[in-house]
Amino acid sequence: MAYLVALWKLLYHSKYFVKYVIYALLFLLMCIILHLWSTRYTSNNYAPDYRIFPYNESNIGPRVILVWQHYYMMVNKGKQIFPSLQCKVNNCIFTEDRYLLGDYLNFDALIFTDSALKQSGHLQNRPERRSPSQIYIFTSIESAYNIPACEIYNDNFFNWTFTYRLDSDIPWPYFFVRNVTRDIVAPSLHVNWTISKAPIAKSIKNILQHKKKAAAWLVSHCEADSLRDDYISKLQGHLFHFSLKIDVYGGCTDRACDDENCEEMFSRDYFFYLAFENSFSVDYVSEKILHGYNNYVVPIVYGGADYTRFLPPGSYLNARELHPYNLAYLIHEAMKNPAKYEAYFRWTNSYTLDADVIGHHPLCHLCEALNSKKAKRRRSYKKFRIWWNGLNGMKWCLPDDYWNETSVVNVDGRHVFEMY
Ligand SMILES: *[C@@H]1O[C@H](CO)[C@@H](O)[C@H](O)[C@H]1NC(C)=O
Ligand SMILES: *[C@@H]1O[C@H](CO)[C@@H](O)[C@H](O)[C@H]1NC(C)=O
Ligand SMILES: *[C@@H]1O[C@H](CO)[C@@H](O)[C@H](O)[C@H]1NC(C)=O
Ligand SMILES: *[C@@H]1O[C@H](CO)[C@@H](O)[C@H](O)[C@H]1NC(C)=O
Ligand SMILES: *[C@@H]1O[C@H](CO)[C@@H](O)[C@H](O)[C@H]1NC(C)=O
Repeated sequence: MAYLVALWKLLYHSKYFVKYVIYALLFLLMCIILHLWSTRYTSNNYAPDYRIFPYNESNIGPRVILVWQHYYMMVNKGKQIFPSLQCKVNNCIFTEDRYLLGDYLNFDALIFTDSALKQSGHLQNRPERRSPSQIYIFTSIESAYNIPACEIYNDNFFNWTFTYRLDSDIPWPYFFVRNVTRDIVAPSLHVNWTISKAPIAKSIKNILQHKKKAAAWLVSHCEADSLRDDYISKLQGHLFHFSLKIDVYGGCTDRACDDENCEEMFSRDYFFYLAFENSFSVDYVSEKILHGYNNYVVPIVYGGADYTRFLPPGSYLNARELHPYNLAYLIHEAMKNPAKYEAYFRWTNSYTLDADVIGHHPLCHLCEALNSKKAKRRRSYKKFRIWWNGLNGMKWCLPDDYWNETSVVNVDGRHVFEMY
């Protein structure tokens, strides 16, 4: 410090003082010009996006979100988020280009998929540096049971969650239920369902009249899942005594049907559709359910979710709450008694169920959140693993040889084989 003061005194009393000041000012000016030029240059890289997306100057500016790993769910939708998704808030730009803004610390948010949870390739799976104002978002549409978070570095890492779980910061459901005034009512943690007892529409009755076969099941994963297959083989056994059976379709069987044909056939021939999840996880209700609701086939659900959060009461059967014999009996009863079967469709008087609702794509909701006050608050999931894996979930992290069929536990801690 003393040296600097001495230098200053020397300069101040020097006859070249004015010259030095001018040099210093010129140097400063050059720095400013260089800085402006460089930021202008980097912002040019994403300038085209301003033109593609209707940018509104009254907004603070675009939110630029880096999808850290390639994610098939965001390739088609995320990149052209506007105008195809018709979001209300539309100043978000999704990109997989880590160099778009020069340094990745410049992105407003980073999105990580469930592949970031695993240890393999750990180094590329995570950025080495992070800015405290950046929002790290965890996204997954796979069940937590299949992809648990095991490693400690998953704790206190993510700021927001964007998953099928309804207690996520931004939920990503597979479908929405709307009431007659077109408001979204489900999925939601608490839904007040109201079902009118009025008779169902004639057009629906017509479809139901011609059905002949008991139940269809479309399987994509050939690998047998002990949990689900065990229940289904018991159900088959009981259906057999009613002279009924489950018809299994899909690539793993000799009965294949391509998408359109499948849907048409379910609607025409089948009373019930088995929408069995491949694993039990909180709120995990996959798109399988839509095979039922889109085609006027009553779904039989089986999963870890509380289905009252997702589906109108009386519109489905829940195998998890039914002994396989009782389920077989209900199928038989509905097939013999048209009025009983029609009652499963009373929900259509009060609700509609759709995979997509214009303006309500989960990416729209994410964009809204990034523009809200929420984005300014600092927070993180300190015990992320416990949140994501759920009760008992850390057990899923034990090595495979620890497990055998009898030790598989439910989300609520009970052994699954105690259910029936
Ligand atoms: C921009 O946004 C403001 C407020 O959100 C709105 O009032 C205005 O109409 C918008 N302008 C355009 C051109 O969309
Ligand atoms: C539909 O849901 C919205 C929001 O929950 C509610 O305000 C509205 O009254 C509901 N409409 C009917 C007809 O129940
Ligand atoms: C649902 O209905 C109950 C009683 O009818 C009421 O107390 C509750 O506030 C309602 N919940 C919602 C979300 O509308
Ligand atoms: C996100 O979480 C990290 C780790 O806990 C924290 O340092 C950072 O400030 C958080 N950022 C926001 C925007 O919440
Ligand atoms: C399965 O696991 C249970 C509890 O961990 C154990 O008691 C049982 O012996 C195991 N069975 C087999 C066949 O390994």
